[in-house]
Amino acid sequence: MLHPKLQKLEKSLTPSTLTQIFDPLLEQKKIELWLKRDDLIHPIISGNKWRKLKYILDHVLSLNAQTIISMGGAYSNHLHALAFAGKQLNLHTIGYIRGERPKQFSSTLSDLERWGMELRFVSRSDYRILRQYKNYNSLPGIQRGEYWLPEGGATKLALKGVAEILMEIEIKYDCLCVPCGTGTTMAGLINASLTDCHIYGFSALKGGGFLLKDIEPLLIANNNNWSIQLAYHFGGFAKANTELLLFIERFFNQYGIELEQVYTGKMLYGLFDLIKKDFFKSGQKIVAVHTGGLQGKAR
Ligand SMILES: Cc1ncc(COP(=O)(O)O)c(C=O)c1O
Repeated sequence: MLHPKLQKLEKSLTPSTLTQIFDPLLEQKKIELWLKRDDLIHPIISGNKWRKLKYILDHVLSLNAQTIISMGGAYSNHLHALAFAGKQLNLHTIGYIRGERPKQFSSTLSDLERWGMELRFVSRSDYRILRQYKNYNSLPGIQRGEYWLPEGGATKLALKGVAEILMEIEIKYDCLCVPCGTGTTMAGLINASLTDCHIYGFSALKGGGFLLKDIEPLLIANNNNWSIQLAYHFGGFAKANTELLLFIERFFNQYGIELEQVYTGKMLYGLFDLIKKDFFKSGQKIVAVHTGGLQGKAR
């Protein structure tokens, strides 16, 4: 059973629904496309953030820890959701931020500060060192009552929350699509998926080949029903061009669904491109996970 404080937070969230996308291209190619709307869960703890944090926060509360320490960039969706959740749950939060303290705070950093997160700016080399610490008590110098959470909330507990996405999908589908940063969300989906479904990750980063190596140790079975699309990074993490931004604008105008340019925009651009190129078989049903992150739109 979830900790009562977390149960209360969960009750305040909106259920994620499944929306079918109707488009002449999909009709022509005889492809059924559905979006799993995790973006609807909460304006801030949205998408995969809630899925990943749910059982981590439960663990924090069960240990009676009072402080969560984590890391991220100046636009981190992960720190944004964590700072907000920390405030809701009365937990102190500390964020190690990559790079120098900027003179002008991004809206993400301003929110973090407003929600009480203690910000510690660290050099890129120190940031890389922090990436080595994977367990909640493994950060050197960690004190009693403090809980270390690696970048992006990439832990095994995150996988348990991600698995719940699939439990909520009541239709039968052939393919599942998800954007990838660290690959943790994808690993959770692979672990929970049926083997007759193929899972396609879309790397948000250039050179996303590392995902193959990073996802493997998170898997509970030797599944080979997954692969990563590496070509839709648009120049690198958080990079975008006019074509991508126009796609996102058109998507909103056509379906009333907002996407952002870091993760979900790239995945859906890639997905439509693959459909155009007959990558998927006619008659296939695809579910793509909208992992939220809309706060990142205001870059
Ligand atoms: C909105 C959004 N979608 C997708 C991802 C990628 O998730 P993961 O790091 O688990 O691959 C992230 C990053 O955590 C994210 O913020």
